[in-house]
Amino acid sequence: MKRQRVLSGVQPTGNLHIGNYFGAIRNWVENQSNYDNFFCVVDLHAITVPHNPQTLAEDTYTIAALYLACGIDLEYATIFVQSHVSAHSELAWLLNCITPLNWLERMIQFKEKAVKQGENVSVGLLDYPVLMAADILLYEADKVPVGEDQKQHLELTRDIAARLNDKFGNKDEQILKIPAPLISKEGARVMSLTDGTSKMSKSDPADLSRINLLDSPELIQKKIKRCKTDPVKGLTFDDPERPECNNLLTLYGLFSGKSKAEVAAECEEMGWGQFKPLLTDTAIAALKPIQEKYQQIREEKGYLDSVLHSGKEKAQTVANQTLLRVKNALGYLPPL
Ligand code: AMP
Ligand code: TRP
Repeated sequence: MKRQRVLSGVQPTGNLHIGNYFGAIRNWVENQSNYDNFFCVVDLHAITVPHNPQTLAEDTYTIAALYLACGIDLEYATIFVQSHVSAHSELAWLLNCITPLNWLERMIQFKEKAVKQGENVSVGLLDYPVLMAADILLYEADKVPVGEDQKQHLELTRDIAARLNDKFGNKDEQILKIPAPLISKEGARVMSLTDGTSKMSKSDPADLSRINLLDSPELIQKKIKRCKTDPVKGLTFDDPERPECNNLLTLYGLFSGKSKAEVAAECEEMGWGQFKPLLTDTAIAALKPIQEKYQQIREEKGYLDSVLHSGKEKAQTVANQTLLRVKNALGYLPPL
């Protein structure tokens, strides 16, 4: 039987943090052998907010290398760069013209980012979810593994695909496949180290708010030492008054591989003075193999380029077929 297709991506804006890892990439790795996977570095999305042209290319390499370091296996997955496959931009344009403006104005992430940007909101920021829909629909993805924050974008993708099928397809033949989100319960929403009520995010100006996958042991120690806690004795999950406590226990479970019940039993009598060094050691040990593999990949000259080159070739073949199908359905004169 043909394996189902998975597509997902991360933006090359700086480093990856443990929210990206537990919310997305770890799940890609765990399930990869069951699917035919496409993982892209979504560099076109990275310029929807002001970006630095001096670091974009390097950041793109970093994310691709981190995919491999986290355990993505080229036997099961194609890794490529979004801007290398021009079908993404082209399909985004076609989808733009069938997407009602008010669908985009409703997007929570747009509203949040627009507030942060102030005066400087680009059309690209509003259009971001349409480009994301193009990413997914080009590969006829069955499943899209993402963190909780992307759920609304997935629903929009489904709505756009259904609308295009409805307007331009016929009953026997759908033009675009309708994808489904794949959101794991654990790690779907890792919270900031400095505020347990807001999501850990690359765009938070405070680096102390997140643990990056490539942070040194000393830095991880410092960040956990400084992270926000509370004065209550004993550590428990799910107390709405203690969001930081819930987040840190969850992280300990994720890093150690222990279940919620095991963590709850182990930590119920602990104070922060005992828990923080435990969390620190566990985090450092869990990230060490990823960091070592990352260094190895970056040192091997030419390797990443060859991965991304063959990724582009494979991705292009699949994407161009879908693009052609959509153009035909929309009635375009084929290239002469
Ligand atoms: P981004 O950093 O926005 O490119 O996000 C890449 C992936 O990481 C997406 O699948 C997000 O849903 C996921 N993600 C980002 N931040 C978090 C977080 N704090 N907790 C869980 N998943 C996250
Ligand atoms: N919007 C996603 C995020 O910020 C990144 C992304 C772009 C993506 N295109 C995608 C995720 C396609 C999954 C599938 O996390």
